[in-house]
This record gives sequence, C-alpha cells and structure tokens, in this order.
Amino acid sequence: MALSRKLVQQRSSVFGSRSMSWWRSVEPAPKDPILGVTEAFLADPSPDKVNVGVGAYRDDNGKPVVLECVREAERRIAGNLNMEYLPMGGSVKMVEETLKLAYGENSEHIKDKRIAAVQALSGTGACRLFADFQKRFRPESQIYIPVPTWANHHNIWRDAHVPQKTFHYYHPETKGLDFAGLVDDMKNAPNGSFFLLHACAHNPTGVDPSEEQWKEISKLIKEKGHFPFFDMAYQGFASGDPERDAKAIRIFLEDGHLIGIAQSYAKNMGLYGQRVGCLSVLCEDEKQAVAVKSQLQMLARPMYSNPPVHGALVVSTILGDQELKTLWLKEVKGMADRIIGMRTALRENLEKVGSPLSWEHVTNQIGMFCYSGMTPEQVDRLTNEFHIYMTRNGRISMAGVTTGNVGYLANAIHEVTKST
Ligand SMILES: Cc1ncc(COP(=O)(O)O)c(C=O)c1O
Repeated sequence: MALSRKLVQQRSSVFGSRSMSWWRSVEPAPKDPILGVTEAFLADPSPDKVNVGVGAYRDDNGKPVVLECVREAERRIAGNLNMEYLPMGGSVKMVEETLKLAYGENSEHIKDKRIAAVQALSGTGACRLFADFQKRFRPESQIYIPVPTWANHHNIWRDAHVPQKTFHYYHPETKGLDFAGLVDDMKNAPNGSFFLLHACAHNPTGVDPSEEQWKEISKLIKEKGHFPFFDMAYQGFASGDPERDAKAIRIFLEDGHLIGIAQSYAKNMGLYGQRVGCLSVLCEDEKQAVAVKSQLQMLARPMYSNPPVHGALVVSTILGDQELKTLWLKEVKGMADRIIGMRTALRENLEKVGSPLSWEHVTNQIGMFCYSGMTPEQVDRLTNEFHIYMTRNGRISMAGVTTGNVGYLANAIHEVTKST
C-alpha cells in the first residue's frame, strides 16, 4: 500500500534529522604540525620561499629524488610479475634482506631463526604494530619515550592505549645529549620497562649517543631488565653507511638483549609513498619466534589484511642483486654526504654573516635534521619576514637546504637570532 505523502515527508524528516546528528559532535582535528608547514609553504607566492620543514630528501636544486637503483628495479619488475596478494607477513624475500641490514649479513640470530619479522607499512606501521603487540601481550606495560621525539611516536602509542612516560634525552644548553639525565631516568624506571630508542639520526634533534655511550646504555638496560625498542627510520642517512648506522643495534645484540626494531625504506631508498618497512622482534628461540610472528600477523589481518606489494618488490629486487645493492649504497652515501656538506655550508655562512652565536651544533648533529635552538617566536619571524618554513620547535630539515638557498637561510637566521 502506498504511503501517504504526509507520512513520507514525516518519515524522511525524522530519518534526515537523525542522520544529520550522527557527526554533529565531531570537531575538526588539530592540524599536524609538520604537514601544516608544507600547506603554508605551498600557499606562499613569494619567489624567495624555502621549505626546511618537511623530512623528505631533496637534491641540490630542491627537487624530490627517485634513486637510480629504484628506477632500474622498476624497469626489471615491469610487466614481469602478477599483482596477487602478499602473505599476511608480507614479502619473505624483502623481510630476509631487511633483517640482514639491521642484524648483520652473517647474523647468528637470523641463522638460528630467532627473529619474528613481518613486512610493515613503513616505519610508522612497524611502530604501530609493535605498540599493538605490546598492548596485547604486556597489557600492564608503559613505554618510555625520549624528550623530544618524532611527534608521531606519541600518537602511535596513545592510539595503541599504551601509557607513556618520558626520559631525558636532549640538553638545550649544550644542544647535545643529556646523558646524565638519560641514565638517571633509565635507572629510576621500574625494572622491565619498555624504552623507545632512535637507532641513529635522532629526529628531531640530530643528536645520537656516541659508541661508548651506547655501550653504557646497553649495559644499564641489561641490568634493569628493560626492553629496548629501536626505531630505525634513517639507516644510512646518518653516516652514509648503513652498516655503521646499525652500530647501536649491534652493540645491544652483542650484549645478548632481546630487542624489537622498526625499519623503514622511506628515507634511505626514497620510497616514502610506497610504505615499505619491517617490524622484527628478536626472541629466545625459534619456537617463540614462530609464535610471535603468528601473533603479529593476527594483528595485521583485521587492520589491512596484507601489506602492499610494489615497494616490497622494489626493495627485494635491489637488495637481492649485488650490482643494484652496490648502486643503492653509493646513492645513500650521496644523499648523506650532500646533507653533511650543507651542515658545513650553513655553519660557515652563519659565521660569515657575523653571527656572534656558536653554531657548532649544526655540524655536530647528524642525519636529516638540525635542532637549531631557535625559539618558536624566532621561527615565526623567519616565516613571516623571510618566507622560510619550518616547525616551530626550531628543527631545520637539512635535506631542504641547497647551495642556492643556504646563504639566504643563514642571513635570515642571523637576523632573527642576533638580539638574543
Ligand atoms: C623517527 C622516525 N620514525 C619513524 C618515521 C616513519 O616514517 P615512515 O612511516 O615514512 O617510514 C619517521 C619519519 O619521519 C621518523 O622520523
């Protein structure tokens, strides 16, 4: 029987108003501080504008880079493979090669099959998968996070419902490591706490412990029975040599720790948007590793089912071929060397324009970022008066500094800091 017109109108207004009220309480989310910088940069029409906010490598002309080894791997892959699903744990070949980079080519742990490892959605996905795993199997635990750290670490462990604590890391006066503060905090944390460590090229500070300090940290973490979780988003980007950049991890392995590692190919292979990474957890034995891997897969299944295939194929093609791997190593070194060169150039230019401040930390810090020590107000002046875009914590992405803009940048920094 047909409904009367009036009834239809009544019903649609009831359903209409109900459906309209579903999201009425949703407020806009706060802007991501890093992505907001890029938006503001893009909207600025000034020809002088400089973006040193974003953590993505640029060449000396300020252009994004696709590595030649990646182009060649894509040529080899093109038309040769199907687009089937990967297994839940991702590409076995990619994971195998990735573990060798972190644990060493001849790692006993790999031979003994003690590592539970799965392909992850780049470094972020690897951290998140670990945080979820931590919550599921150590529900009472917390995570100790360095101050400062990559802002997303806080979001990741928050959304995994793992309570967060912090530990001292950066010393604003020395613009270096607050080693004493770090040691105290590790000592004072309850035995068996989880600690998040940046394996190399700490973001945002560019401050890494020395080899000797890593040895002491490893010893202390062992004594306290803490669990070290390494976020290694920049392997190869610190020194130009992925082997050297894995030093901290190797120290911990030698000391017999059970560790977790998040690895990413975003920066060191320039595969940012491909989302290729790996989460690994070193276990007591093979049986435990099989169990842990199965649980990691179980966490992945309802989230994204299985990881994307293209980037993993690019990585396994490069690392599985000696010639392409050699080319990759050369290209990583090229990127790291350009950044190191820009650190020297920025410091020299600051000294040349007559800055009375010490800029030693620009060349002492390592990796993609320089934690300049500028205040949020000084950063605002850089943006408003000089069209220079960066995060308000004073972090300069050295990857955005070029031969063409380093003089302009140094002069502007001098202008906004000279009255301090
Ligand atoms: C310290 C740190 N960890 C993890 C990541 C994650 O990067 P991605 O998810 O692109 O691999 C980044 C990226 O900026 C980072 O700086």
